[in-house]
Amino acid sequence: MTTREQAAALDARDPLAPLRELFTLPPGVIYLDGNSLGALPKATPARIARAVEQEWGQGLIASWNNAGWIDLPRRLGDRLAPWIGARAGEVLVADSTSVNLYKVLHAALQLQQGKRKIVVSERSNFPTDNYIAQSVVRSHGGELILADSPEDIPPLLDERCAVLMLTHVNYRSGRMHDMALLTRWAHQAGALAVWDLAHSAGAVPLDLLGAAADFAIGCGYKYLNGGPGAPSFVWMHPRHQGQVWQPLTGWLGHAAPFEFSPEYRPAAGIQQYQCGTPAVLAMTGLDSALDVFDEAAKLGGMGALRAKSLALTEAFIAEIDARVPTAWVATPREAALRGSQVSVALPSDIDSYAVMQALISRGVIGDFRAGTPALLRFGFTPLYTRFVDVVDAVSVLADVLATEAWRTPEFQRRSAVT
Ligand SMILES: Cc1ncc(COP(=O)(O)O)c(C=O)c1O
Repeated sequence: MTTREQAAALDARDPLAPLRELFTLPPGVIYLDGNSLGALPKATPARIARAVEQEWGQGLIASWNNAGWIDLPRRLGDRLAPWIGARAGEVLVADSTSVNLYKVLHAALQLQQGKRKIVVSERSNFPTDNYIAQSVVRSHGGELILADSPEDIPPLLDERCAVLMLTHVNYRSGRMHDMALLTRWAHQAGALAVWDLAHSAGAVPLDLLGAAADFAIGCGYKYLNGGPGAPSFVWMHPRHQGQVWQPLTGWLGHAAPFEFSPEYRPAAGIQQYQCGTPAVLAMTGLDSALDVFDEAAKLGGMGALRAKSLALTEAFIAEIDARVPTAWVATPREAALRGSQVSVALPSDIDSYAVMQALISRGVIGDFRAGTPALLRFGFTPLYTRFVDVVDAVSVLADVLATEAWRTPEFQRRSAVT
C-alpha cells in the first residue's frame, strides 16, 4: 500500500510529470478513462479553431493544397509510425477502426487466395472486431472461430486457418498478447496476423515490423487523445504491397485520383487504404494530440511511458488488494501480460454499474463493462495520470463500498453509454 505522501513523492520524481500540463483536466476530477476517450490536449481547441476559421473560413477550398489537408492521412501516419514500430510511409490515418478492420481483413483473406477461409479470434474480443469478421468471412464463404481463452488460440492455428485476428490488449481484461510470438505461430501455420491496437497505441511498446505482423489498425481517440471519433490508423507490412486490393476502392485510394479516370487503379502501398475525403477537422485534433507525443519523446519516449504505466497499474492493484479485499483484479498481475488498464470485478451482490456511477459522482471517472463478470475499468494514461490519483481513486472506491453509497437510486439509472 502507498500512502498519499509516498504517492506525492513519486509524482514529484516523475520525469513525465510536465506532460500533464499539456492537458485540460477539470478540477476535482480523477480521469481514469483515457483508455476509452483520451483527455483534451490544451492546444487542441485553438488548433481546431484555426483550421475552421483560417484554413476553412479564409482559405476555403485552396486549403486542400495550401494548408496541406490532402496530405493529412499520410502525414499523421508518418507521425504515428514510430509509436507502433512502423516506418514513415507505411501508416495511413483514415476512417474508423471498424472500417479499417474491414479493409485489412478482406485483404488478408484475399492473400490466402481462397485456399484458407477461417479467421481465428477470441470470444472476448471487442464486439466490433468479431462483427466485422463475421461479415467478411461470410462474403468469402469462410468461418470465424472464436477461442474462449488465450490458451485456446494456438491449437486453432492449423492448416485451415487463414487469418489470426486479435486485439493486442483486451478491452475487458486489459490482458496483453505477445504479438511477436503469436504472429510467428500464425505464420508457421501458414496464416496471416491482423492486430487491433486500439488499446495499445500510445500506451505500450509496439514493434509491428519486428513482429513481422501482416496488418494492423487502431483508434485515434483512446490513448492517442485525438478527440471523440478521431480517425483510426491502418498499417500493412510492406511485403504485401501491391499484392491485393482492399475492398473499399474509393477515389482517394486510386493511383491518380485527379485524373478522374473511369477505371480503378490502386495507389501503391498504404495509400490504397484511403477510401474517400479525409475528415479534416477530426484529423486536426489528432495532429494536435501527436504534438504531446513529440514532447513525450523528448522525456524518454515509449520506454518512459511504459515504465510509468506499469508503476501506476501495479500501485493501483496493490491499493485494491489492500483496501478492497473483496474485489477480484481481472487484469494480469504479471507486467508483461498487462496493458495500461486495470479491470476490477466486485462480488455479484454489488451492482458494479451503480458503483461506477457513484465513483463518477465523486469525480473518479472510469467505466463499466457488462458481462460475466461485470467489470469496473480504470485506464492509466501515463501522459497525465498521477500516483496520487491512484491512491485517491481507491480511497473513494473503498468508501463507496463501505458506505454502500452505490445503493442510491440515482446511481442505478442506466445511460446509453456506460
Ligand atoms: C478493440 C477495439 N476495436 C475497435 C473499437 C472501436 O472501433 P470504432 O472506432 O470503429 O468504433 C474499440 C472501441 O472501444 C475497441 O476497443
